Amino acid sequence: MSPLSTAVLERARGAARPARLGRVSELLGLQLRVTGLQAAVGDLLSVESAVPVLAEVVASGPTGLVCLPLGSTAGLTIGAPVHAAGGPLTIGVGEALRGRVLDGLGRPIDGGPAIDGLPRVTVENPAPGALTRPRIDHQVGLGVRALDALVPCGRGQRIGIMAGSGVGKSSLLSMVARGTDAEVSVIALVGERGREVREFIENDLGPGGLARSVVVVATSDAPPVERLRSAFVATRIAEFFRDTGKNVVLMMDSLTRVAMAQREIGLSAGEPPATRGYPPSVFTLMPRLLERAGTSTAGSITGLYTILVEGDDLQDPIGDAARSILDGHVVLSRRLATSGHFPAVDVLESISRVTNAVTTREQQHDARQLRRMLAAHRDVRELVEIGAYVPGANPDADQALARMPRIEAFLQQDMDDPTDTATTWQRLNGLLSS
Ligand SMILES: Nc1ncnc2c1ncn2[C@@H]1O[C@H](COP(=O)(O)OP(=O)(O)OP(=O)(O)O)[C@@H](O)[C@H]1O
Ligand SMILES: [Mg+2]
Repeated sequence: MSPLSTAVLERARGAARPARLGRVSELLGLQLRVTGLQAAVGDLLSVESAVPVLAEVVASGPTGLVCLPLGSTAGLTIGAPVHAAGGPLTIGVGEALRGRVLDGLGRPIDGGPAIDGLPRVTVENPAPGALTRPRIDHQVGLGVRALDALVPCGRGQRIGIMAGSGVGKSSLLSMVARGTDAEVSVIALVGERGREVREFIENDLGPGGLARSVVVVATSDAPPVERLRSAFVATRIAEFFRDTGKNVVLMMDSLTRVAMAQREIGLSAGEPPATRGYPPSVFTLMPRLLERAGTSTAGSITGLYTILVEGDDLQDPIGDAARSILDGHVVLSRRLATSGHFPAVDVLESISRVTNAVTTREQQHDARQLRRMLAAHRDVRELVEIGAYVPGANPDADQALARMPRIEAFLQQDMDDPTDTATTWQRLNGLLSS
């Protein structure tokens, strides 16, 4: 038989094979129950309706499959036919993703060409083995002076940016997206306002920044499963670029919203609420997601995750859990933001756990000297303001007071003015030796 007729026969056999159909048996809260289908936990199903709705199987029991929809359930009815998609969520990955904006399920939403031809991969992926990860030994330039000099970030490091609302987390990420010297940026905007998305892409990132970025967006009105999945989709795309030997910066705004999406899912699947309403699954999700960034034998993913701390409470459960997994944190201060000091990085409260591995002795010396001056200045600031400080009482404070205008100018930075790392270290050294 010729190869052509074998293919024709195979197609005909496929068409004649009976398709299994399930039915929606219950629609309750966030979830729907499906009977009559066999599928594994994590598999996707497609529910027939005016616009077919994708749903993910989250549990399976004697009464059928419990599924969470990945789209709006308006218009779904009991008895609607359900098809198995044949496996878990997959996304297309490839170089062609650069410059593209995708939704939380990895589908383009920027009106550009289709990305159907790309190889498809599942979004779940194991983290690099603990003992095969190369150690972090190179600084990645973020373009922000206060960070590059005082909270230096290594290639493959994961850092949390913690602050209350409106203190400048998203703006700081925008600065990094534009100023970083990494080869590719993958940016996940999870549960943020729809308005901010275009602003971010058009104003903050700009055409130049977008050309070397991939943006994954699931706004606050997207279903919780899409918001949760978007974090994994972005991580999987970053992993693709890391596997091709690139140094990638993965930015997630915000990790808190990812945790909130998992909270909605966990509670609606019947989990008990534990700390501040977060069910236990939230705290197993975080390491599963965050451990996937980091170095591998091929390349690196440097992860920057913003964390919203409620009421500026730095002991917030998500902040606490993140801090124990991540390799450093940047704290933004509302006091600095309200006084117009941007980026509002509270350098004395921020630490990078890889500083010594990624900087030279001279750089560490300079950074320590600046930190000492800032700490001394913080101690005497109130005395100086009321005129009670006696010069000479604290040599570090005297040095800081003499240089304060130049220190402030070094730490403050406009959003559209990135500085490369070499210039940052030079400026810091010049500032201290004058
Ligand atoms: N580098 C900067 N230069 C000037 N203004 C800034 C800068 N960074 C932040 N701001 C100001 O702070 C405001 C809030 O910033 P941003 O939206 O980044 O905060 P956020 O912490 O992400 O807030 P939310 O928690 O609501 O997402 C901005 O609208 C802007 O006015
Ligand atoms: Mg924000």
